[in-house]
Amino acid sequence: MSLKEKINTATIPQHIAIIMDGNGRWAKKQGKNRVFGHKNGVKSVREVSEACAELGVKHLTLYAFSTENWNRPKLEVFALMELLVFTIGSETKTLMKNNIRLKTIGDTSKMPEKVQRELNKLKEATKNNTRMDLVLALNYSGRQELVNAVKKIAEDVKKGKIEANNITENDINRNLYTAEIPEPELMIRTSGELRLSNFLLWQSAYTELYFTEEFWPEFNRESLYKALVQFQSRERRFGKTSEQLEK
Ligand code: IPE
Ligand code: IPE
Ligand code: MG
Repeated sequence: MSLKEKINTATIPQHIAIIMDGNGRWAKKQGKNRVFGHKNGVKSVREVSEACAELGVKHLTLYAFSTENWNRPKLEVFALMELLVFTIGSETKTLMKNNIRLKTIGDTSKMPEKVQRELNKLKEATKNNTRMDLVLALNYSGRQELVNAVKKIAEDVKKGKIEANNITENDINRNLYTAEIPEPELMIRTSGELRLSNFLLWQSAYTELYFTEEFWPEFNRESLYKALVQFQSRERRFGKTSEQLEK
């Protein structure tokens, strides 16, 4: 039985989030510069997006650039931005062929103009696609997302739209970048690092975490299948006991 055949198609997560990590170390391992690693990460993005769409995943969120990543060497940041422009500009066909719609989370207004332009073009071109949403997290920070939500709620309180006492989790949810997106059932991080690095902090309260030693450019279809098989073998208890779930 192949790995793919072991996946239960009835319980595919609706939303998978991935922290694509390890491009730099992957490149270094073979004596290349970090940018070579980023370039090779693109084919993993393509392969995993296609595989997720085929499996019936409805939302795939990829952490592509964090607010903290601006602190990297200028040249690397510049190369990453150029790569984004090039990649976004050349993916229209793949997204159309796979009926995938592009979305973003994060403060993209602080991304270079060129990146914003390509993003808007691709969002517009794919806006009627329905099979899966590919959500790119760009200039994303989970804490900043929460700060923004708090600001909006404070405004609503000031305007008398809601009472401070009546603020609910839903008020926070609807003010996040992910307002229209369900919480991820599964979060994958590559490269052996065991942390969230400011990704989807609120949304991942009950997300199943999956870590693999593979570097992002090595992560392929089979790696995704392996993660899904593992995910499906887990019991998600949400605070209850195992016995309660059996009923
Ligand atoms: C992930 O790979 C890509 C981005 C953060 C943009 P890294 O660039 O973090 O690679 P490592 O972790 O240094 O190996
Ligand atoms: C997280 O990876 C951000 C992205 C994958 C875009 P980092 O490589 O930036 O995370 P840290 O610095 O190791 O926590
Ligand atoms: Mg890293």
